[in-house]
Amino acid sequence: GKVALAFSGGLDTTVCVPLLEEEYGYDEVIGVTVDVGQPAAEFDEAEETAEALGLEHYVVDAKQAFAELCLDSVTANATYQGYPLGTAMARPVIAEAILEVAIEQGCTGIAHGCTGKGNDQLRFEAVWRDSDLEVIAPVRELGLTREWEQEYAAEKELPVEGGNEGDWSVDTNLWSRSVEGKNLEDPSYQPPEDIYEWTDAPTGETTTITVEFEQGYPVSATTADGEGGELDAVELIEFLNEYAGAYGVGRTDMMEDRMLGLKVRENYEHPAATVLLTAHEALEQLVFTADEREFKPQVEHQWAKKAYEGLIDAPIMKSLNAYVAASQENVTGTVTVKLQGGTVRPVGRESEHAVYSESAASFDTETVDGIAQADATGVAKYHGFQARLANAGGTDEDET
Ligand code: ARG
Ligand code: SIN
Repeated sequence: GKVALAFSGGLDTTVCVPLLEEEYGYDEVIGVTVDVGQPAAEFDEAEETAEALGLEHYVVDAKQAFAELCLDSVTANATYQGYPLGTAMARPVIAEAILEVAIEQGCTGIAHGCTGKGNDQLRFEAVWRDSDLEVIAPVRELGLTREWEQEYAAEKELPVEGGNEGDWSVDTNLWSRSVEGKNLEDPSYQPPEDIYEWTDAPTGETTTITVEFEQGYPVSATTADGEGGELDAVELIEFLNEYAGAYGVGRTDMMEDRMLGLKVRENYEHPAATVLLTAHEALEQLVFTADEREFKPQVEHQWAKKAYEGLIDAPIMKSLNAYVAASQENVTGTVTVKLQGGTVRPVGRESEHAVYSESAASFDTETVDGIAQADATGVAKYHGFQARLANAGGTDEDET
């Protein structure tokens, strides 16, 4: 039989190739790498390793679809425990693409190199178990450790780079770069600068970026010196990663609660996500009513949770997406954010749909729409009415 393997060319997936033959009895393995915006070097590594292994290798471009999902997540202000959902949202996209190749190529098995400790195994398999293929997770099922993998690779003379040993476990896509493992597993260990590739250490330099939204979707990003402009989803994210990354924007060092319940230390870089999420929320502040601002986070919380679980096709997502889409009708306008000391904060916003009247809110005007300051007196008298009654121990009817 033939088995399709999610292949990156890293240690885990490289050792899976011979193991699928030796331990699972497949006589042909094909490797599939899905492009969700990893750096070019990763494709080179996958290509070279596949060639050295004599592995038939497929590369599928899913960048556009993934970028669109990332922008959907902006309309939902989606983060999980503070992290923009890069790895999480990429998994179902990757899993679908691999499944398609597997079916096309007549495979009877489908495999990944995830450990039994993480989230990715669950996200991949949720998609694959919907098919008739045998789902295989060699690293988990054979209880492999990184140390064992290294020895096995050396023994079998597998083409893994010697330098890999000191490296962190890195996962990169358009939306985020995740770094974990090794000494980062000690929550008290302060990460050295060299774990970061997308972000420079913040300096005193500042700049501004103006992001334009149409019904919640970012359509352009223009810097103070006129760079950027109208861009498609992929270009927009790439541009902001590069530009805001240079200002040290979008670093997260956090304790994350995984689906299995394990608490882990994670480091992320996500400059574009931070800029877009910050700007989008600022625009909602301007165009939403107070009710909408109060309610939408509940929808967002559920959305982010399903996305974290890799279950973007869950039936509830349809309803959540419908709410999010309806809520975005007036989320059109521009927001200017300031990048300073590695942070992003809104410093200006504009929309034709602003639920805001400067003259009504201003301290400099007396009457607006026939309402004068003095009209608030009655409201002020009632404010806190129930609390006063309760704190006085209640009042009997005769007194009122
Ligand atoms: N824990 C994160 C998540 O579930 C990221 C894991 C990424 N994998 C990695 N090998 N760095 O989204
Ligand atoms: C893994 O366990 O293979 C990577 C981390 C994760 O899936 O959360």
